[in-house]
Amino acid sequence: MPETIRMTFNGREVETEAGKPLIELSRELGDEIPHFCYHPGIGVDGNCRMCLVEMKGVPKLVAGCTLSAAADMEIVTNSKKVRGAREGVLEFILVNHPLDCPICDKGGECPLQDYTRLHGPAHSRMGDDKNLSFKHRAIGEHIVFDDERCIRCSRCVRFQRDVAGREELGFRQRGDHISIDLFENRPLTSGFTGNLADICPVGALTTREFRFRARPWEMRRVATACGGCSLHCAAFAWWKEDEILRLTADVDHRINDWWLCDRGRFAYPVEDAVAGSLVRRQGEQVPVSFAEAATRARELLSASDRQAAVLVGSRATNEEIAHAAALQPRLGSELSPFAVAAEELEFFVAQSTSTDALADLATLGEFDRVLVLGTDPELTHPLFALRLGQATEKSAMKVTLVEDGDFAPRGDFTRRWELVQSDPAAWLAGSGQDYLAGAGRLLVVFHEHLVRAGAVDAATLAAWSARTGGTKILPLYAGMNRRGLLAEASRYAGGASLLAALEAGEVGTLLLFGVDPEVDFADGEHWQSALRCAARLIVQSPRLESLHASAEVLLSRRRAVDLAGHVINSFGLERTLTSWAPVAGERAGDTDWFEPLLSVEPSPSLEVAGSHEG
Ligand code: SF4
Ligand code: FES
Repeated sequence: MPETIRMTFNGREVETEAGKPLIELSRELGDEIPHFCYHPGIGVDGNCRMCLVEMKGVPKLVAGCTLSAAADMEIVTNSKKVRGAREGVLEFILVNHPLDCPICDKGGECPLQDYTRLHGPAHSRMGDDKNLSFKHRAIGEHIVFDDERCIRCSRCVRFQRDVAGREELGFRQRGDHISIDLFENRPLTSGFTGNLADICPVGALTTREFRFRARPWEMRRVATACGGCSLHCAAFAWWKEDEILRLTADVDHRINDWWLCDRGRFAYPVEDAVAGSLVRRQGEQVPVSFAEAATRARELLSASDRQAAVLVGSRATNEEIAHAAALQPRLGSELSPFAVAAEELEFFVAQSTSTDALADLATLGEFDRVLVLGTDPELTHPLFALRLGQATEKSAMKVTLVEDGDFAPRGDFTRRWELVQSDPAAWLAGSGQDYLAGAGRLLVVFHEHLVRAGAVDAATLAAWSARTGGTKILPLYAGMNRRGLLAEASRYAGGASLLAALEAGEVGTLLLFGVDPEVDFADGEHWQSALRCAARLIVQSPRLESLHASAEVLLSRRRAVDLAGHVINSFGLERTLTSWAPVAGERAGDTDWFEPLLSVEPSPSLEVAGSHEG
């Protein structure tokens, strides 16, 4: 427990934790010390001098970002002396900073703009021409650099080096010619470059995706969770009318700290979705409204000559999965509605009752060793790789990756990991035994596909738990909401096999909802050919494109970033997806499809038109 101390801040006596950074304390007190180069996720550099404060007992002004709360400390941030220093710092920064706020993407959310208004000089004494430099240079796949606007705070350099683990940026030259530059002109390679635009305090680093698309005050910021992988990092979606123009990181120390990976941040414009609904009429799929599509789907489910069924997959939210599970008995079906294999479900139940599961990435640094089986986390779960890389850097932790594909972690931190190119199942049965017998606190991270392949099962879990020294596990799931699907499926007992019923020709109408064939079917080709055995398909699964042309009804689907509802992340945290999109009109809300469907009355005697066989 941190010690509680008393100190004085601008004449107020305050109680706080000893060691709390002074800038964080000032933020909590609603009297924030202005700063540029300090960032809580990157730390202190002390180069911008914007944070100068008076401290009792010290004759000169002190950089506030270098101070931490201590007993009896007395801090003044609003004296004439401090205000004069701030004014001087701002005047100095503005000597060469262009006054192009009206066309700068940071305009409206720029600390330099805000501080100049609050603390800056009213007039410039600068009579000379400003230094000119380049205005837009692409320095990576997503990032554009404007050298004129840069205030040399070094946040970007330190982020690349200390957080992303890639020393790819540095300063060159001196004095008023100093500039940020790439090493040997090699573009940024980390998968986390979008964070540079978030942390640059001015408009020097912007993303190609968002440049010139909107002003901050035209957008509405909505707290949500990224759907790029099963970690579900905290994010803000920025909406302009009914369009999302950018994602930025929100802070959640259990998952992503202050960061987002590029894959999640930039995936939303290209994410799969189905824009409008289609219904088959006289053999042709024709566009229809939400209401017409829902009515037709309901008719087909009510009037199925053979049994009707629903199959829900891991691209559905918890609410959608629960609705699908409620729909199945209304259809008179006893088939399991969940796209999960029995052995995977059995494993999930065993694993979720284990008290040894990691529940928070902030505790990663507690382990002596981390074993990662069957995945290159930089590719599948980038923020986990980032946090693990940082934990490796800050401790003596040893990380071992066992994977049989081609994999080569690229960052400076991850380069220190031991890479074992081997089949994880064979490794576990062989040299893995000696590894697991080793001492110390161990975290075993494994990709879900190892469960399907039988390489990790309940007996493996029990053996890991029995290990002396302490073992925790962290399963990494593929797909958006695989864990939510397994959690919902574990609440239902059994259910007959849909696959067998399909192959026996017993299924008339089949509703496929949120199915992701790459994640939901261990044997994708087998399943996809079996799905064609249903007489009629209603499809609400953007990733099942191969079945879209044969669907009787194709229901529209929003992008993952556009959904509202809940999902469960890889380590069991429930995450909220928030949408600002209008739900009315042609656009179906997320669980809207189920409202008309849940009122189905199975009526096998009705005639059904437009069925396809085989
Ligand atoms: Fe700071 Fe931005 Fe310049 Fe980097 S580009 S040094 S983050 S102002
Ligand atoms: Fe303290 Fe920059 S924030 S010197």
